[in-house]
Amino acid sequence: MFKSILLIGAIGVGSFGDYVAHELIKNPTNFTRIAFFNNTSRPADEAKKARIQELKAQGFEIIEAADYASPKAYEGFDCVLSFLGNHGLYLQPTIIDAAIEAGVRHFYPSEYGADVTEGQNWTQRYYKYKVQTREHLEARARDVPDLGWTYYLLGRLTEWSVISHFGFDNKNAKAKIYGTAAGRQSLISAGDSARYLVETLKEPLSPEAKGNRRTYRISGSNPTYAEIFEVLERVTGRKYDVAYLDVEKAKQEEAQAQAAGDVDAELAASHKLIQGREGTLLPQPWDNDRFPQIHPKGVDETLRAAFASEHAKKVYGLE
Ligand SMILES: NC(=O)c1ccc[n+]([C@@H]2O[C@H](COP(=O)([O-])OP(=O)(O)OC[C@H]3O[C@@H](n4cnc5c(N)ncnc54)[C@H](OP(=O)(O)O)[C@@H]3O)[C@@H](O)[C@H]2O)c1
Repeated sequence: MFKSILLIGAIGVGSFGDYVAHELIKNPTNFTRIAFFNNTSRPADEAKKARIQELKAQGFEIIEAADYASPKAYEGFDCVLSFLGNHGLYLQPTIIDAAIEAGVRHFYPSEYGADVTEGQNWTQRYYKYKVQTREHLEARARDVPDLGWTYYLLGRLTEWSVISHFGFDNKNAKAKIYGTAAGRQSLISAGDSARYLVETLKEPLSPEAKGNRRTYRISGSNPTYAEIFEVLERVTGRKYDVAYLDVEKAKQEEAQAQAAGDVDAELAASHKLIQGREGTLLPQPWDNDRFPQIHPKGVDETLRAAFASEHAKKVYGLE
């Protein structure tokens, strides 16, 4: 079991790491040290500054460093968890090397999504840096035999599944979806997923459990697009006009975005291709049963709460 943990990329308000931070706040007693990495060379708006003060007031440690490459920042931690977003994922090999030098022997890379080893996922643009990070961990394990990691896989986070990045226009109740109405994906709410993740931190690394090179697959349900739109219509009270497109045409959208140098559009198109091929359907068996005390919320309840929140206007493009 881990005693001292360092979270990277978990200060940003509303990010997935932020959900995990909120769970840890409820449940800190299992750990002697919980710290948050503040990369001081990164931009810091008022919300981020306020969050750092809040974390300090709650008794958490803030580790400040101007980059991720210096081993000093990682000294004394037995587990480092990365929650870096898409644009920061390329930094993970640097983080892993610096932390190994400082003595860290366990990593949670920023996965928290589909199983990248499934179907055609491994070679998709969207997962390029997640794949590189896995390859780096596995390469380093050849020199550092006690190196371990946890791949925490969840499919998709329900709250994020219906945003414009993935073809939803909630303001006008329209959507353009690559794939079919019968296409499925695995969904779980961000809060529930964070709760399960914190439980995995408490499981021993013993061979009787999952050892020290672990994969957890934990999700909520596998709705089809037709079912997701039924829920959206109940939650928003509006009928969605949905166009289903030939999934392989997402490749053209990806190529156009790449030619235009628009990385976000390229990632969005790549994700639509993955999604349309059911690449975010999390393979069974799932590990939910290891933590029977958690009962994940359904899609309806999750989206109802998400659309009712203050954040909704921005996140769902309703402004
Ligand atoms: N499966 C799903 O549906 C789903 C949904 C959401 C997220 N996720 C996964 O969860 C993880 C985190 O995603 P997120 O959306 O929460 O991330 P995010 O909000 O985009 O970023 C998280 C943090 O990463 C750091 N960061 C971002 N860009 C960076 C850059 N260019 N250089 C250095 N640091 C950078 C920032 O921290 P600082 O400002 O402190 O540097 C930021 O607050 C990812 O692996 C993502 O794929 C999965």
